[in-house]
Amino acid sequence: MKSDGEVKHILVTAALPYANGELHLGHLKSTYLPADIYTRYHRLKGSKVIYVCGSDQHGTPIEIGAKKSGKPLLKYIEYWHRKHHEDLRRVGISFDEFYKTHSKENEELTKLFLRKLLENGYLYKSKVKVLYCPYDKMYLSDRYVRGTCPYCGAEDQYGDYCEVCGRTYEVWELKNPRCAICGRKPEVKEVVHYKFKLSKLAHKVEEWLKNNKRLQREVVNYVLTWFKAGIRDWDITRENYWGIEIPFEKGKYVYVWFDAPIGYIAATVKWAKEHGEDWEKFWKGNAEIVHFIGKDIIYHHFIFWPAMLIGTKLGFSLPSMISVRGFLTLEGRKFSKSRGWYITIGEGVKFFKPDYLRFYLTLITPHSLEDTDFNLKDFKNLVNSGLCDTIGNLSYRVVSLVHKKFSGRVPEPSAKGDPEENLVNAIKVAPIKVGNLIESFDFKRALEEILSLARIGNKYMNLREPWKNSEYSPTSLYLLIQLLKSLSILLYPFTPNISESLWTQLKLNGKVEEAKWEEAGNLTVEPGHEISPPKIIAPRISDKELRKAVELLGRNV
Ligand code: 2FM
Ligand code: ZN
Repeated sequence: MKSDGEVKHILVTAALPYANGELHLGHLKSTYLPADIYTRYHRLKGSKVIYVCGSDQHGTPIEIGAKKSGKPLLKYIEYWHRKHHEDLRRVGISFDEFYKTHSKENEELTKLFLRKLLENGYLYKSKVKVLYCPYDKMYLSDRYVRGTCPYCGAEDQYGDYCEVCGRTYEVWELKNPRCAICGRKPEVKEVVHYKFKLSKLAHKVEEWLKNNKRLQREVVNYVLTWFKAGIRDWDITRENYWGIEIPFEKGKYVYVWFDAPIGYIAATVKWAKEHGEDWEKFWKGNAEIVHFIGKDIIYHHFIFWPAMLIGTKLGFSLPSMISVRGFLTLEGRKFSKSRGWYITIGEGVKFFKPDYLRFYLTLITPHSLEDTDFNLKDFKNLVNSGLCDTIGNLSYRVVSLVHKKFSGRVPEPSAKGDPEENLVNAIKVAPIKVGNLIESFDFKRALEEILSLARIGNKYMNLREPWKNSEYSPTSLYLLIQLLKSLSILLYPFTPNISESLWTQLKLNGKVEEAKWEEAGNLTVEPGHEISPPKIIAPRISDKELRKAVELLGRNV
């Protein structure tokens, strides 16, 4: 047994969802699911891995959402906190901690960051232009104003960030601004804000970016274009704002994008307190820190966040990896809340098995910024052919034959030829191949590799025909049982329920989550071991079921 100090420490985070609306399948596929796959894999590898997340609860959109809902603000954020946690749990996302930014821990840490940045000369006061609506008598920060992006000219963008080109800017830079409440043209006023001297830290961030070879090249190149254009200081305070008050001046609050990523640390602190552990081991030592995000928040994670960590001079480690994925479209069209064109995670798990969603979303999502499409027919076809036929049906056939021919006990292998050797080899290398792909964040190809192992099993079975070939029947069924056990372990990060059903089907000891990843490469099920009667572990999706889901969704897809 390795001592705690020798075990690899890994901290996995997924972008904190805003506590103001439903999470949809796009969030699942770009962020929560990939992070879950990575975490589950490392649990089987025996690493000390924790997966933390939480609600992003401050900022103007949340305040507006609460007002619109008629709920008191604190009740509103609590509602979304629970709802998100519950929806994600239902789809098998296995957080170690799902915390919140409106918490004592996050407030203390945020104030510490602010004090340290001030002390180290990275915060300074500066006159800034802000927008004020004389009609509504309020300062219009971020989401309270809409206009044209000063960089790319996209219309109807918010006051802090352009959803089309991904650039962030100051509210007064927005062209043709309008108050989001009354639609009138706001006045420009001057107030004093605190600015974070990003310009002074940019070279350090750039150095990290260039030296970190794990980061996706595509993303690094994209971010480097921002450095070329020049990184400007960042206005991090607001007035009349739902957020954390800054410790050195009353009436000024910190912009939500400052305290949000600190929420990753707050969640770790909370977890550590509850488990008698030391949070600093994850944030200040040799631990691997891996953030999973969608491509809309690259700027915040590749520029703001590392600069904040460096600027404190508190010895925080920089991210080892920030894994970024693209958006999801639905039947070829962009997800849109206002047009009702989306599937929430809650709806997804109401109509389909969580593992089916996980399987499909993983298979269509490359490790890149590319967008992918959720197509219901494609979903049905890929799940039916991959999960139900190639894996589920193989298991059913093998287990049935073991019952029919060997009274439910794993037979003793005897005859052996090249096909046997090839199969044993395929089993042996599978955890290495799949593991390498997972460690390089290519979960799509990792899952394809598992499917290809299952296909090898199907081919082998059809070649040896154990239902009639008595010479090879014991050996082939023995080996196919080993293959099913391997599949059970290899599938655990991707489809944990089906993985567990396979494990139970084979009546293996304990739970699959207690298995070791490497075991997937060995033939460990002993001859004579009794297995359970055959069960369908992955029923096919029928046309009727699909039609019903489409109807209930009422989305006319
Ligand atoms: O874009 C979003 O949904 C943000 N709530 C993500 C925050 S991630 C982190 F920095 F907290
Ligand atoms: Zn107004």
